[in-house]
Amino acid sequence: MTVPDADVARDDLTPELCSWADVESEPEPKSASSQPSLDLPPWVDLRRYHQSGFSRGRPGWIVLLWWLVQAIAFPLTLHAHHAPRRALLRLFGAKIGRDVVIRPTARFTYPWNVEIGDYSWIGDDVVFYSLDRIWVGAHCVISQNTYLCTGSHDIKDPTFRLKTGAIAIGNGVWVATGCFIAPGVQIGANSVIGVRSTVLHPMPATYVCWGAPCRPQHPRERLQPHA
Ligand SMILES: CC(C)(COP(=O)(O)OP(=O)(O)OC[C@H]1O[C@@H](n2cnc3c(N)ncnc32)[C@H](O)[C@@H]1OP(=O)(O)O)[C@@H](O)C(=O)NCCC(=O)NCCS
Repeated sequence: MTVPDADVARDDLTPELCSWADVESEPEPKSASSQPSLDLPPWVDLRRYHQSGFSRGRPGWIVLLWWLVQAIAFPLTLHAHHAPRRALLRLFGAKIGRDVVIRPTARFTYPWNVEIGDYSWIGDDVVFYSLDRIWVGAHCVISQNTYLCTGSHDIKDPTFRLKTGAIAIGNGVWVATGCFIAPGVQIGANSVIGVRSTVLHPMPATYVCWGAPCRPQHPRERLQPHA
């Protein structure tokens, strides 16, 4: 089969030419061809997508107000002054502990679903995609560009149903730069999640873990605390 270029493929996928999710088509065998089919009928009909089983937890006007605050007020706050950002998040229902560090480019979808324990650090461009609860313990570090994702979709469902799952990160955990934490994941206390890891399953306490998918690699060693 000749693979059309991207623009032609997009034109071929108009509703008029497709019978959408009702059309039977089989999964393509993995080794059938070096060029995959692009123009099969879609198995999902995004016109039927709805969020009837999902609640944002606050009225729409509060969500809108929060997004304005985050877009306008957050970037105006000083990089090293975290108190105004803590105060704004608390105003919108987040539970933020003592002396938590939150960089101005961190993003929170619904702050009322977020709890962060004392002395934790939230780095630049960290995203709390908090459709569901996100709990971060005390003395945790969530490094730059990490994405805490509580939302997904049912890929078998033609309506692409939204699914959510809470995330919990134990005390003393370091999630290094650029990690993805999936819905429903729990990370045990004092573990380390190595750079660029994709965490799809719960991780035990006091382990160094990394990879895509992330796996426990070895116990975390510890120097004796100074007297
Ligand atoms: C996890 C981490 C702390 C190292 O842990 P460690 O147990 O001391 O591991 P080592 O450095 O001894 O590496 C052991 C092996 O695992 C590999 N490894 C370490 N972290 C890895 C990761 N995230 N993904 C894949 N492989 C990794 C190393 O390449 C090394 O492989 P090798 O033996 O073939 O050379 C470190 O890799 C890391 O992720 N640091 C985060 C850096 C960061 O995010 N900085 C910015 C925020 S300040």
